[in-house]
Amino acid sequence: MGATTADNIARKELAEELILLDIKEGFAEGKSIDMMQTAALLGFDTKIKGVTNDYAATADTDVVVITSGIPRKPGMTREELIGTNASIVKGVTENILKYSPNAIIVIVSNPMDTMTYLALKASGVPKNRIIGMGGILDSSRFKFYLSQALNSSPNDLHGVVVGGHGDTTMIPLTRLATLNGLPVSNLLSEDVLNKVAADTMVGGATLTKLIGTSAWYAPGAASAALVESIVRDEKKVFPCCVALDGEYGQKDICLGVPVVLGKTGWEKIVDYKLNAAEQEAFNKSADAVRNMNSVLDTLTL
Ligand SMILES: NC(=O)c1ccc[n+]([C@@H]2O[C@H](COP(=O)([O-])OP(=O)(O)OC[C@H]3O[C@@H](n4cnc5c(N)ncnc54)[C@H](O)[C@@H]3O)[C@@H](O)[C@H]2O)c1
Repeated sequence: MGATTADNIARKELAEELILLDIKEGFAEGKSIDMMQTAALLGFDTKIKGVTNDYAATADTDVVVITSGIPRKPGMTREELIGTNASIVKGVTENILKYSPNAIIVIVSNPMDTMTYLALKASGVPKNRIIGMGGILDSSRFKFYLSQALNSSPNDLHGVVVGGHGDTTMIPLTRLATLNGLPVSNLLSEDVLNKVAADTMVGGATLTKLIGTSAWYAPGAASAALVESIVRDEKKVFPCCVALDGEYGQKDICLGVPVVLGKTGWEKIVDYKLNAAEQEAFNKSADAVRNMNSVLDTLTL
C-alpha cells in the first residue's frame, strides 16, 4: 500500500519529488518507473524515484510515510505482526531521521498504535511530528457502511472512529455521526447502527479475507489525505494516532483522537467530549494498546 499512497500523492501533486524506498532489490525502482509512466496520461509533474535501501537519496524529506513491514493474512490480527514489524519500523525511522532530521513521520505499519508509540520513543522527535494513520481510514470505512445503510452518498456523511486501530479496539462514534448535519441515530435503528459499527470494526479483516492480504486503495487514499492536510497546511481535523498527555483521560500512549493537521504535523487535539459509555470504551481500548506496547519490552530491537 506504500505504492498506492505514492500514486495518490503524485496524482494530487502533493510533492515536487517523491522517493519510494524498499528493501527488496529493484522493487521501488520498478514501481516508480511504472508510476512515472502514468504522468503523461494523468497530467502530474511530481518526480518519482525508487531506491533500494538508499536512505541518502531521501535526504531533506519533509513528510515520510512508513508502510514497511509485513501485512496480515486471512485470520490474523494486526497485533500478531508486532514481532516482525517492530524492528523494521524502528530501523526505518532511525535511518530516515539520519538524513531528514526535521521530517514529519506518518506511521502506517501494523500494529499501528504500538508502532507509532515505538517510533515516538525510539526517535525522541517532538510528539507533533509523529502521526499514526488508522482512524482516518476506519472513519472512511464507517462512512461507507453508513452510506449503505442509509442509501446515501458517503460524501454527505460525517463520522469519526477513535481509539485503537484494531478489530476490537476501534470505537465508531455512532452518537456523533451525521447525514448533512442530521444525527444518523434519528434515521437508523439501534440494531442497524450496531451492525454498522461492528462491520466497521472488522472492515480491514473482511477485506483481508476476500483479497488474501491487507487492503491498499482506502489505506493509500487515507495516508495521502493526511499528507495533503500537512503539506498544504489545510488544518483539517482527522482522527489520528498521537501521543496523549492527559487528553481523553490517557497518558504515555499513542491512540486515535481527532487532531488538526497542518504544516507542523498534528497541531492540536480536538475534544469531542465523550459520554460515559464512550469514555469507558476508550479506556478499554487504551488498556489493550498499552498491553501491546508492553510486548515491545520483550523484543530485542
Ligand atoms: N494503518 C493502516 O490503516 C494500515 C492499512 C493497510 C496496511 N497497513 C500495514 O502496512 C504494512 C504494509 O502493508 P502492505 O500491504 O503494503 O504490505 P506489502 O508486503 O505489500 O509491502 C510491504 C513492503 O515493505 C517492504 N519492507 C520490509 N522490510 C523493509 C525494510 N526494513 N525497509 C524497507 N522496506 C521494507 C517489503 O519489501 C514490502 O515491499 C503492514 O504492516 C500492514 O499491516 C496498515
